[in-house]
Amino acid sequence: MIPKLKLNDGATIPQVGLGLWQVKDDQAFFDVFNSAWQSGYRHFDTAQIYGNEEVLGQAWTGAGTKRQEIFITTKISITHFGSALTSKSFANSLKKLQTDYVDLLLLHFPVTGLRNDSWLELEKIQAAGQAKSIGVSNYTVNHLEQLKHHASITPAVNQVELHVFLQQPDLRDYCRTHGIVIEAYSPLAHGKDMQNPVIDQIAQKHSKSYAQVMLRWLVQQDLAVLPKSVSPERIKDNIDIFDFQLDEDDLQQIAKLDKDLRTCWDPTHIP
Ligand SMILES: NC(=O)c1ccc[n+]([C@@H]2O[C@H](COP(=O)([O-])OP(=O)(O)OC[C@H]3O[C@@H](n4cnc5c(N)ncnc54)[C@H](OP(=O)(O)O)[C@@H]3O)[C@@H](O)[C@H]2O)c1
Repeated sequence: MIPKLKLNDGATIPQVGLGLWQVKDDQAFFDVFNSAWQSGYRHFDTAQIYGNEEVLGQAWTGAGTKRQEIFITTKISITHFGSALTSKSFANSLKKLQTDYVDLLLLHFPVTGLRNDSWLELEKIQAAGQAKSIGVSNYTVNHLEQLKHHASITPAVNQVELHVFLQQPDLRDYCRTHGIVIEAYSPLAHGKDMQNPVIDQIAQKHSKSYAQVMLRWLVQQDLAVLPKSVSPERIKDNIDIFDFQLDEDDLQQIAKLDKDLRTCWDPTHIP
């Protein structure tokens, strides 16, 4: 059974979700969905910009899954910011996903000038029961502090790039203090550094894979993780991380690996 984290609005979120960025909108998607389902994934992370909301809708309904068994996240694209476009595009997302609510709705990026209006729209969507939880993505401490002046609701989640090579200790401290759960995106650093000898040696010590050590470090920090894979073996591997524990020595060695490696957006310069 995959552990769930409690959100500040009383909902819960499965600690491992399947990342769906770059999972193509074609027949292969169904194979990926089915592999993930059989391996125990119940949490799926899509976004308007990924172009696969529709096929996710077809996959979960086609599998005969009950709506309450699956946790669906989507995100408002940067081109859909502002009150009117946020609500219009979200209505379209619900249609594509074949549901009348999502479990988690995020603002994809801290778009300057428009993000606060979009946030107020998310608050309305949540009040209408169309999103169980609402949150943000790619927000720095600065963006979260600014949001406080406009929001009635604290985001339940901040989805950011976080992995052993980008550890973001200040953001983690801030989110912990403010009751915001971090979802670690690109938890395998987008596959860009899979040969570090320290991780290799820890993996050997625990008879686990390199990726499992990267993911285990994140779940031991009480974060949710969103690994992406299209390979059935890796999909299975990436959720099989709850039968071992990194010890103090492992954690100390991993703490030294932080090198500010960003593989995706860099929101730190966004005012
Ligand atoms: N909110 C945002 O702005 C944002 C930005 C980026 C990502 N995300 C979310 O985070 C998810 C994951 O991020 P990501 O796709 O950038 O990268 P990731 O999960 O860190 O890495 C994916 C890469 O690692 C490979 N891989 C997966 N499992 C592996 C394993 N066990 N061993 C070796 N290699 C493995 C994958 O290849 P194969 O597929 O061939 O296995 C792929 O090349 C996305 O799908 C998306 O849902 C959100």
